[in-house]
Amino acid sequence: MKDYINPDFKHMVHGGDYNPDQWLDYPEVLSEDMRLMKLSHCNEMTLGIFAWSALEPEEGKFNFEWMDKVMDDIHKAGGKVVLATPSGAKPAWMAQKYVETLRVNDRGERYWYGERHNHCYTSPIYREKVKLINQKLAERYKDHPALIGWHLSNEYGGECYCDLCKEAFRGWLKKKYGSIKNLNGQWWNAFWSHTFNGFDQINPPSPLGENHVHGLKLDWKRFVSEQTADFVKHEYDSVKSITPNIPVTANLMGFYQGLNYRDIVKVIDYVSWDNYPNWVNTDHDINVAQYSAMCHDLMRSLNCRPFYLMESTPSHVNWKPYNKLKRPKVHMLSSLQAVAHGSDSVQYFQWRKSRGSFEKFHGAVVDHVGNEHTRVFKDVTAVGERLEKLDEVVGTVVRPKVALMYDWDNQWAIDMAGGFQLNDKKISQTNCQYYNAFWSKGVDIDIIGADSHDFNDYKVIFAPMRYMVSDALGEKLKSFVKNGGTLVCTYMTGMVNENDLCHLGGWPGAGLREVFGIWNEEIDTLNPGESNTVKLKDGTVVKAVDYCELIHSEGAEVLAEYDSDFYKGMPAYTVNRYGEGKAYYIAFRDDGSFTKQMINDILDEVGVSSEFDGALKKGVTAHSRTDGENTYVFLENYTPDDFETETGILWTEVDTGKTLTGKFTLSGYGTLILKK
Ligand code: GAL
Repeated sequence: MKDYINPDFKHMVHGGDYNPDQWLDYPEVLSEDMRLMKLSHCNEMTLGIFAWSALEPEEGKFNFEWMDKVMDDIHKAGGKVVLATPSGAKPAWMAQKYVETLRVNDRGERYWYGERHNHCYTSPIYREKVKLINQKLAERYKDHPALIGWHLSNEYGGECYCDLCKEAFRGWLKKKYGSIKNLNGQWWNAFWSHTFNGFDQINPPSPLGENHVHGLKLDWKRFVSEQTADFVKHEYDSVKSITPNIPVTANLMGFYQGLNYRDIVKVIDYVSWDNYPNWVNTDHDINVAQYSAMCHDLMRSLNCRPFYLMESTPSHVNWKPYNKLKRPKVHMLSSLQAVAHGSDSVQYFQWRKSRGSFEKFHGAVVDHVGNEHTRVFKDVTAVGERLEKLDEVVGTVVRPKVALMYDWDNQWAIDMAGGFQLNDKKISQTNCQYYNAFWSKGVDIDIIGADSHDFNDYKVIFAPMRYMVSDALGEKLKSFVKNGGTLVCTYMTGMVNENDLCHLGGWPGAGLREVFGIWNEEIDTLNPGESNTVKLKDGTVVKAVDYCELIHSEGAEVLAEYDSDFYKGMPAYTVNRYGEGKAYYIAFRDDGSFTKQMINDILDEVGVSSEFDGALKKGVTAHSRTDGENTYVFLENYTPDDFETETGILWTEVDTGKTLTGKFTLSGYGTLILKK
């Protein structure tokens, strides 16, 4: 049961963004790159990102000779190429001649030429130019032996408010709502006299116009996401029609809030993403590792397939307030973390530091000194050597029994809502709190969407702050529990429907009141520094912060009650048996310790544990991949100290072939890759 991104290349990919177009006047540098690529155990170059002006220096005048040579040289040196379409940055001639390709901001101002990621995704001229250059690239290199993948554009994102986009938005709304009357109802437009007579009266949200109609704002974000996906599809089709067997990706950005990545994943073959955690080499690194792990899981779970770590830095970045170096051992650990979560690559931004402009001090495999005698080059080489021993892991998948539910539009709706803690509802912190509990236990999880995943693949679903619940999702959750699943939800569940209209008739709405056997009457937002206490049945007292809902049991068993304030004695934590399954409701936010214990208890109850049988400690975790027969466990230590543990299983260390059982030591910042 292996799932290869490219069945013609069954090795870990190790390489990164390569910009020979910046060095065409330095041929000696380009030939040195090939020597260094081999030396560093890199086997891939991601070529052509932002190379449009080198490929088409003037409109209609193309120059591929330099790229022909680079492709051939990489091939001769034993490397492969993930070839980028150049649409992440456009040439100056295009902006000068076709002004419509430039974006317009939400105040109606058109940008000047400059920067990157700055083009209108709706513009027919931009689309035409992109298609032309993409097809030329595909035609030219379709049979090139080095080509193993396509990399569409770069980090799609951003918004354009030009007239073309406005018109497209109105068309999108018309298609969604059918009539203006329906739209008025769904956006609750009688409020502040906002009733529209026609779609042509509607503008995107703007500080100059409307910025508080939730239905409008949510639909605009959905439109931007779908319009971007439509552009991605346009690029996809342009290369796929010529190279049907070459897998296509776009490099994504974890929890980036500008797009719903579930729209994008529908129009690419495989996921790749760019990860820049802030490793600092203190205890704080454990939090960094947990957040980075959660992002890997989110990205992998988009289609539950292996993915590529398309960009990471081998040392430091240049855009954080403090650009600290990765400490010894951390590069190996952070690279293998991606593999542990399902990546079949470790790739870098960037291969070689540019000589000038904004990224000249960004970390790279090859520094300005230009040789292999650097600490970073050696770190990269060590990663390459290790990845070469992991062929059997390539194509293995991650198949958890536990899921955390996350949807972009749910977060958008929560973030834009009035009330609660106005400026930060804490959905990201809540997700981290939940995720960290699984991570600390070494339990694999998927991060799933309401529409995109089959709930029956999981024994238990945790859906914290699931504010937006459509009737369809309500039904889906209901049957999940009815059929024996365990569902865990929290404060702010089922308050609104998919158009951000409040559910009437008592929360949690969309049929979930019956599933949880509770009614949520009110929600109390505590001031910073304030807390309440919650008493569990066994007498344990835990702290409640931020949110306390005033819920009533309507058949649910009460597992904990509030211990103070005017709602003392009301339920704070309940469980309801529903059909064959159970539904837990947590009415309050805690500082993390209750969440951790509750998750441990529920995982024990449903019989889900780590694939590693030994003890873990703070900062040490385990993640697994499988080919259906063998299980590969990555044991990762994010602390500087060696850790002694014990296993009752007979394992084989994948990269050394040695067997391992009983007591053993995992070194500080070390990773062991074990097979059972
Ligand atoms: C990424 C981008 C790269 C490079 C990198 C620097 O977001 O895709 O082109 O700029 O950041 O960290």
